[in-house]
Amino acid sequence: MFEHVPRYAGDPILSLVQTFLKDPREHKVNLSIGFYYDGAGKVPVLGSVSQARDRIDTSVPAVYLPMEGDAQYRKAIQETVLGAGHRAVAEGRVATIHTLGGSGALKVGADFLKAHFPGSEIWISDPTWENHYNILGGAGFPMHAFPYYDAATNGIRFDEMLATFEKLPERSIVLLQPCCHNPTGIDPSREQWLKIIDVLVARNAIPFFDMAYQGFGDGLEEDAWVVREVANRGIAMLVGNSFSKNMSLYGERVGGLSVVCPTADEASRVLGQLQATVRKNYSSPALFGSRVVSTLLNDPALREEWKGEVAQMRTRIHAMRKGLRDRLHALRPDLDVDYFVNQRGMFSYTGLNPAQVDRLRDEFGVYLIQSGRMCVAGLFEANLDYVAASMAKVLA
Ligand code: LMR
Repeated sequence: MFEHVPRYAGDPILSLVQTFLKDPREHKVNLSIGFYYDGAGKVPVLGSVSQARDRIDTSVPAVYLPMEGDAQYRKAIQETVLGAGHRAVAEGRVATIHTLGGSGALKVGADFLKAHFPGSEIWISDPTWENHYNILGGAGFPMHAFPYYDAATNGIRFDEMLATFEKLPERSIVLLQPCCHNPTGIDPSREQWLKIIDVLVARNAIPFFDMAYQGFGDGLEEDAWVVREVANRGIAMLVGNSFSKNMSLYGERVGGLSVVCPTADEASRVLGQLQATVRKNYSSPALFGSRVVSTLLNDPALREEWKGEVAQMRTRIHAMRKGLRDRLHALRPDLDVDYFVNQRGMFSYTGLNPAQVDRLRDEFGVYLIQSGRMCVAGLFEANLDYVAASMAKVLA
């Protein structure tokens, strides 16, 4: 019956994790998937999350959530993404639902857009997270890449990007990462963002923000700056957010999709269509994780504690970036490795080519994604010397 079903080639990120887990070498280092490891080399259970979990009354039956998710969880998403008391929320112009992580937000958002903007096409950065192609292309959209990463300068091909945006057909959907760009770690400056927004507004485009790493760049509020800026202008936009990384709750699938609309009437219609999209996909979201997140974010003391923990994770990532840069600089003074400290968030584009990535994995047990992306949040004191020494040998 299924003879014609082709074998799955595997996913460049998730399948690599399986290969890593099977690798018997004790000194192996996982810098592939976007997991944050603490100073002891463990994916942490945050103190604030653990306290929130302890407060959950497990005698409450696990009935289905509404299609859009729990109201308190959705309110907490709006406050986290747009800031407490944002005008768009107060005016009822934001339709927010609980999604299965940031990926779920992309999927529901893409299905919603495909249904209501069937002639639109999507633009995504070159390069981008590999799964953007699967999720957004899988919703039936023609996909285009806009110029982004400049290997020569380790910066952004800003003029070319803007020139591409200036020619966008009306109602084009532009996928943007507001902070900690995956995979490059390079974000536009605020000045550049303002120019991007102006062009997208002039082209009547639809910005779709994918905010998976809020808090890992400059801070929880700072990282959401461009999202809030667009919302302030009353422009229709979508924003997907995730608590996978910043609460270390990867497997709980806790994310959200917020559609900021010009009017409250549009927002209520959009919310209804988002509910319908969820029902068609998976009916309703998962309960437990949203109870944890909602308990945490709706308690002022726990929320403050969490903010402190996010700051600690961010500081540690910065320290690991600097540690790697310093070590590589000492071992290979012929190379410019300052990009490690100039990039932001969990990921760095190392410039390693696929053959060098293979060598790093096969000879040294250090795992990066084939594109040369490294999860710097997987570095910790005990593996830093080894990773730097291995990279120093492999870098051309
Ligand atoms: C990553 O990019 O490594 C993460 O977002 C995990 C994933 O699902 O790919």
